[in-house]
Amino acid sequence: MITIKNKLSIQKMHHAGQELAEVLNGIKEIIVPGVSTLELDAWIDKELKKRSLISQSKGYKGYKHVSCISVNDEVVHGVPNAEKVINEGDLVKVDICAAWKGYCADAARCYVVGKPAMEVQKLIEVAQSALNKGIEKAVPGNRLSDISASIQEEIEKHGFGVVRDFAGHGIGKSMHEAPEILNYGKAGHGPFLRPGMTFAIEPMITMGGYQVYVTEDGWTVKTKDKSLSAHVEDTIVITEQGPQILTRKNLQNGAEVL
Ligand code: MF3
Ligand code: CO
Repeated sequence: MITIKNKLSIQKMHHAGQELAEVLNGIKEIIVPGVSTLELDAWIDKELKKRSLISQSKGYKGYKHVSCISVNDEVVHGVPNAEKVINEGDLVKVDICAAWKGYCADAARCYVVGKPAMEVQKLIEVAQSALNKGIEKAVPGNRLSDISASIQEEIEKHGFGVVRDFAGHGIGKSMHEAPEILNYGKAGHGPFLRPGMTFAIEPMITMGGYQVYVTEDGWTVKTKDKSLSAHVEDTIVITEQGPQILTRKNLQNGAEVL
């Protein structure tokens, strides 16, 4: 069942989302060559606490950290590690899910230390545009797979791979709620979208094939062909007027103002 959130629940998710967006923006300043992913996680932990946000990953199925940090050919669920040091040019994905007063927001961004190679820049841009195209379809009266199809089309149009083994999800009191939001599929299927539904949409894309595997740590997901991967995620609410992005700053009518 897809729950419909009331105004108060959405306000709490919005607050969580805005705070989370600030934390993710702050990472730009502290991600420098030589920093370890464990140090980044410790900084995020401090920021979440400062903002009364409760991490949803720490304690989840035994996971010990407040973020997932995935580097280069790691796709998602990278485990923060003191030994894992960021180098110039690395493609780093940071994913955080946190709750405020019992309501969650989930978001991920890509970072590159120094100047990204042209093809890395392109990969990130396409992940972002695929997310935006998916979000645009999150309007009342559309169907769930309209989001999925739109994401897949954008990614494959640019020749990149769509990871299939992981997906977006409903979100609210829990980090993961129904429905599962695939990043591929044919338009016109699945439940009809209604105001008050809240989704975490998260395309995971690769420069090569879409096959991935989970490493020996039991968490980290990597591309089989060692190709680079990008992942971005936002939490949105469907309103009568269209999608509103809860995890981006400077919102106006659901669109980001630069
Ligand atoms: N934020 C991730 C998601 O989108 C969840 C990672 S939590 C972990 O589903 F515990 F699995 F690390
Ligand atoms: Co998510």
